[in-house]
Amino acid sequence: MSIIIVIGFFVFVSLCPPCSASPAHVAALSTAEIATSATDHQALMSFRSLIKGDPLEALNSWGNQSIPMCRWHGVACGMRGHRRGRVLALDLSGLNLLGSISSSIDLENLNLSSNSIGGNIPPELTACVQLQFVCLSHNNLQGVIPSALGVLSNLRGIDLRYNMLKGSVPLELASLHNLEVLALGYNNLTGNIPVEIGNMEGLIRLHLESNMIVGEIPKQIANLTNLTHLYLYLNGLTGLVPASLGGLQKLQILSLSDNQLSGPIPPSLGNLSSLVFLNLRANGLTGTIPESLGNLNLLNALSLTSNSLTGIPKCLCAMLQRLNLFNWVLTFFPE
Ligand SMILES: *[C@@H]1O[C@H](CO)[C@@H](O)[C@H](O)[C@H]1NC(C)=O
Ligand SMILES: *[C@@H]1O[C@H](CO)[C@@H](O)[C@H](O)[C@H]1NC(C)=O
Ligand SMILES: *[C@@H]1O[C@H](CO)[C@@H](O)[C@H](O)[C@H]1NC(C)=O
Ligand SMILES: *[C@@H]1O[C@H](CO)[C@@H](O)[C@H](O)[C@H]1NC(C)=O
Ligand SMILES: *[C@@H]1O[C@H](CO)[C@@H](O)[C@H](O)[C@H]1NC(C)=O
Ligand SMILES: *[C@@H]1O[C@H](CO)[C@@H](O)[C@H](O)[C@H]1NC(C)=O
Repeated sequence: MSIIIVIGFFVFVSLCPPCSASPAHVAALSTAEIATSATDHQALMSFRSLIKGDPLEALNSWGNQSIPMCRWHGVACGMRGHRRGRVLALDLSGLNLLGSISSSIDLENLNLSSNSIGGNIPPELTACVQLQFVCLSHNNLQGVIPSALGVLSNLRGIDLRYNMLKGSVPLELASLHNLEVLALGYNNLTGNIPVEIGNMEGLIRLHLESNMIVGEIPKQIANLTNLTHLYLYLNGLTGLVPASLGGLQKLQILSLSDNQLSGPIPPSLGNLSSLVFLNLRANGLTGTIPESLGNLNLLNALSLTSNSLTGIPKCLCAMLQRLNLFNWVLTFFPE
């Protein structure tokens, strides 16, 4: 695989002018060359050259002269305006493609989820300034998340879940003010959740689950008032459950299970009027279960097992009976 990575970088630099980080190479091309669909054609062919396995023969149409580029499998082109006939999106998800990534064209959407793409995330991807959605989940990507992704100010979604990425969550991502989805779960990330996360006010979904992230949950997370899904389970988080989480009025799913959180469940969680799923299991939480949780009228799954909690408030019993979800709830006491 390492050989493919080296080749990948080389091909990228030589054939992807709009996204290239190599000024020398950009200078060698005229503006006209850069601005034609022929460039896209060439870039797609270089992209294809990095794909070493295509068991479903999904890319057979690529390069076939009797099929227009915009009709190649997974290719979507602009329909009007200055990007008419230019490649805007690549959706090659779920094709079991084997190989590595080149950064290709100045795409808006790149979806390579569920393949066997290895190697690193090329930092040169960051020259694709139009990128809005990058989905590279369920692959074999290695190395760190390039901090340079923080320059892609149009990014609205980035999904890198289920890879083998390591290193920490780059602080630089906090400058992505349009980001709605940040999904980095199921990797080998370490370090803390950066406090700068409080700047990503547009976030709707935050997935950092199943990594090796440590330290406290920053209280600045309360700044993310549009958050509906917060997944931090299966990490090494310590400290208290921030009471400020109770301010996240749109939160529907809160999963902090399988960490080393301690102290009481903050009563403010009872203010999460949109909450349907609350999982705090397998932590070191102590104290009594706050009665305020009984206010969570939309809740339909709750797990507090494997903590050191004491006492089930009456109002909560009523709620649990209403939900009839004892198989979910199991026991409140340490297992
Ligand atoms: C190219 O596409 C045409 C039309 O779909 C098809 O008939 C032809 O066999 C293809 N050629 C190759 C080399 O795959
Ligand atoms: C990528 O493709 C997968 C599988 O087809 C799909 O579920 C996902 O929504 C796509 N993501 C984006 C950002 O297009
Ligand atoms: C994480 O790293 C460990 C060893 O450090 C390795 O065994 C494991 O497979 C890695 N997991 C992922 C998801 O990359
Ligand atoms: C919350 O977001 C605003 C606007 O981006 C920012 O100025 C502020 O510093 C953030 N607060 C925290 C606690 O992160
Ligand atoms: C939060 O969501 C609302 C409704 O979708 C939207 O109008 C608003 O701009 C979002 N806030 C931020 C900071 O992105
Ligand atoms: C949130 O909950 C706490 C404790 O249950 C309560 O004292 C507080 O007034 C609530 N805040 C809001 C904004 O509803």
